[in-house]
Amino acid sequence: MAKTVVITGAGRGIGLATAKELAARGDRVVLVARRREQGEAARAEVGQEAELVVGDLAHRAGVTALAEELRARFPDLDALVHNAGIWPSKKVLNADGYEQAFFTNHLAPFLLNHLLEDVLKANSARVVQVTAGLYPKGKMDPDRTPQGRDFSGMRTYADTKLANLLTVPLFAERWEDAGVTITAVHPGVIRTGLGDRSGPLGLLLKLVKRSWGTPEAGARTVARLVAEPSPALYYEEERPTELVPPATDTALARRVWADAAAAFDVA
Ligand SMILES: NC(=O)c1ccc[n+]([C@@H]2O[C@H](COP(=O)([O-])OP(=O)(O)OC[C@H]3O[C@@H](n4cnc5c(N)ncnc54)[C@H](OP(=O)(O)O)[C@@H]3O)[C@@H](O)[C@H]2O)c1
Repeated sequence: MAKTVVITGAGRGIGLATAKELAARGDRVVLVARRREQGEAARAEVGQEAELVVGDLAHRAGVTALAEELRARFPDLDALVHNAGIWPSKKVLNADGYEQAFFTNHLAPFLLNHLLEDVLKANSARVVQVTAGLYPKGKMDPDRTPQGRDFSGMRTYADTKLANLLTVPLFAERWEDAGVTITAVHPGVIRTGLGDRSGPLGLLLKLVKRSWGTPEAGARTVARLVAEPSPALYYEEERPTELVPPATDTALARRVWADAAAAFDVA
């Protein structure tokens, strides 16, 4: 049966490819993009029956506004794909004082899950969290990472994906009785704009990316996990895979959850 599927970061890359694949299967796709122009261009590619919501996951006010619009326009949503993400090359603090990637990659999905929780429960919805296989390289330090005090152009991305992934089993537990399911997926090493930067490193990255997979390849498992809910918590591309440390650190997970919950005044 056709589903209503919300995809964040759907203006380009893996999010756009996922939207195209799901629309081709007959789903009603809701594209979330932060710039209207880009969102309209994506919609033209996906099909005019796709819906567009302009939303910015960079700060609390943006996530709150996005949640309000999604609740009002799509109370019947069947699936939510947290795909938007960034690989930061330098430390930037957002309007709330958080390191930008920590907010976009970890806190924004955490908050959106809470703000939409009643809608997700009412529809026994499916949540797919796009993560990264690099998470074991993360050294998320709850006292330093959120404000970027330990910022590293190489490691912070992994820290933010680790923080986000630590909460996935806790959401799964929380939603078990309500019929909401959540699975995280590493989409593969994919040729998109992720982490693009200027200078010699940027040039080198551009060259290396030529051998990486296509956005369509990255979208395959993401789209499949929307269509076929799986009890596994984490997929590496097509394979259900056990999480490894530090993502299995339950004390750290509880701390990461408690800090995010306190920041947003949610349970
Ligand atoms: N590519 C890979 O090899 C790879 C590997 C593992 C995991 N992933 C994950 O896959 C997901 C998609 O990445 P991608 O490779 O497709 O990268 P991408 O082409 O750079 O796309 C990232 C998407 O996120 C959106 N986004 C970023 N910040 C946002 C914000 N504040 N509000 C709303 N949207 C925002 C971007 O929108 P704008 O166009 O407005 O910037 C863009 O649509 C990410 O979560 C990434 O971490 C990718």
